[in-house]
Amino acid sequence: MAKKDFSKYFKKPNMKESKKRSYLEVEKVDGTIDNKFLNLGKFKTYYLRTYGCQMNEHDTEIIAGILEQMKFKRTDKPEEADILLFNTCAIRANSENKVIGEIGRLSYLKKFNPDIIFGLCGCMSQESEIVDKILKTYTFIDLIFGTHNIHRLPILLSEAMFNKVRVIEVWSQEGEIVENLPKSRSSQKSAWVNIIYGCDKFCTYCIVPYTRGKERSRSKDDILFEIKKLKEDGFMEVTLLGQNVNAYGKDLNNNYTMANLLEDAAKIGIDRVRFTTSHPWDFDDEMVEIIGKYDNIMPHIHLPVQSGNNEILKIMGRSYTREMYIELFKKLKKAKPNINITTDIIVGYPNETTKQFLDTISLYEECKFDGAFSFIYSPREGTPAAKMNDNIPLEVKKERLYELHEVINKYSKASYEKEKDKIVDVLVIGPSNKNKNILAGYTGKNQLVLLPGSYDLIDNIVQVKIDKPRNTALLGIYIENKIEE
Ligand code: SAH
Ligand code: SF4
Ligand code: F3S
Repeated sequence: MAKKDFSKYFKKPNMKESKKRSYLEVEKVDGTIDNKFLNLGKFKTYYLRTYGCQMNEHDTEIIAGILEQMKFKRTDKPEEADILLFNTCAIRANSENKVIGEIGRLSYLKKFNPDIIFGLCGCMSQESEIVDKILKTYTFIDLIFGTHNIHRLPILLSEAMFNKVRVIEVWSQEGEIVENLPKSRSSQKSAWVNIIYGCDKFCTYCIVPYTRGKERSRSKDDILFEIKKLKEDGFMEVTLLGQNVNAYGKDLNNNYTMANLLEDAAKIGIDRVRFTTSHPWDFDDEMVEIIGKYDNIMPHIHLPVQSGNNEILKIMGRSYTREMYIELFKKLKKAKPNINITTDIIVGYPNETTKQFLDTISLYEECKFDGAFSFIYSPREGTPAAKMNDNIPLEVKKERLYELHEVINKYSKASYEKEKDKIVDVLVIGPSNKNKNILAGYTGKNQLVLLPGSYDLIDNIVQVKIDKPRNTALLGIYIENKIEE
């Protein structure tokens, strides 16, 4: 029987609401799952696919944790699953198209088994335009929830399963900070740790402040407790997560900043501390100093610049100039000379002139980044930039992206080549995706290393001599006996 009616849970997102910022203090609540849901998934399986950034990857670990506590078992075969969930990303049109394509491709499963639950969550669920489209066109989708109410999954899922109704519950604005949700981590050595949710920067092209709500920090005690516990459980690496981690603590008004948190996290003594993403805007000198001071704060920073032209930076709402960015870049290199810095760049912002684009190229040449993600600007409904007229044809934007790629590749190759003959610490994460006889791992600088070796090395930090730098990875040899000085 087709599930046509809506349940008592029917709440669509509203972009105007999601733009609003409330100055009320954000409460903290306990997310422990109610006993009555604990056996709902017995003998059932779930398939969960993630798109987008690290925040989404970590949300997926939480969703998986919730489902596994309800006794669902994970499968990587969609055709075997009772529940199919898509944790989506809305950052660019092509991110959304990938999701729509994949859901469409798998919709045939519903014909064989009408009891399957198809669910959508993540940033696309927060967009009213998308939810309307799904309600109209993708009628086989039974469940939609958003980024703010993941903890409501047991209630919403049980409603969809037992009452055979379509359940749509998306909160336009953030709710409380939910602690103690279960997590099924994808690694037992390297962990994501949320420190701040949301984003208040409102860069004019970006959808995130609408899909993730206002900036709200977790309490320092909860974060540091989580890191200590991870260390006790044998984790070697933590990555502190937020859309803009440098804004950490500002909403708590207790004079405890990102620099303080980073220092306290490093002092716990876990082998590797990372953080992502940093906006150049809130990056203060104290933070630069702490990064330089602690060896277990890893020598890699992702510092998105977006453009090398001041006029474009201004209309993007990035609140820094090219000169300010370069100054910060140099301070970081000085404080931690072995640091690798990577970046994000958008080409073809509305009306970007050739000269403005060439400023981005010249900034790249000046900074010689170790790597970069580069994108063609994609208009996002509801953002200020989407309302601008744009006189730059797509063909020109594609040529610019191509030109930028050449420069990015030149410097990333040089960055890998610098590692030749060095002995580096590598956290081995598992067999390589492409060749199961080779191991893969990451250096402190976050460069991929491929090495021959026994599976016993997995989940250890080992020393590797780099003998062949390649364009996208370092090939190395495991050094068996560490030479102690
Ligand atoms: N919070 C991070 C970025 C998160 S989004 C920061 O500001 O540093 C990741 C990247 O996607 C951005 O850095 C930007 O380069 C890109 N991006 C965001 N919105 C985009 C859009 N509308 N079109 C193209 N690229 C976009
Ligand atoms: Fe988007 Fe800007 Fe916030 Fe980054 S800082 S998430 S680019 S609005
Ligand atoms: Fe995408 Fe949402 Fe992350 S839009 S990049 S999944 S915050």
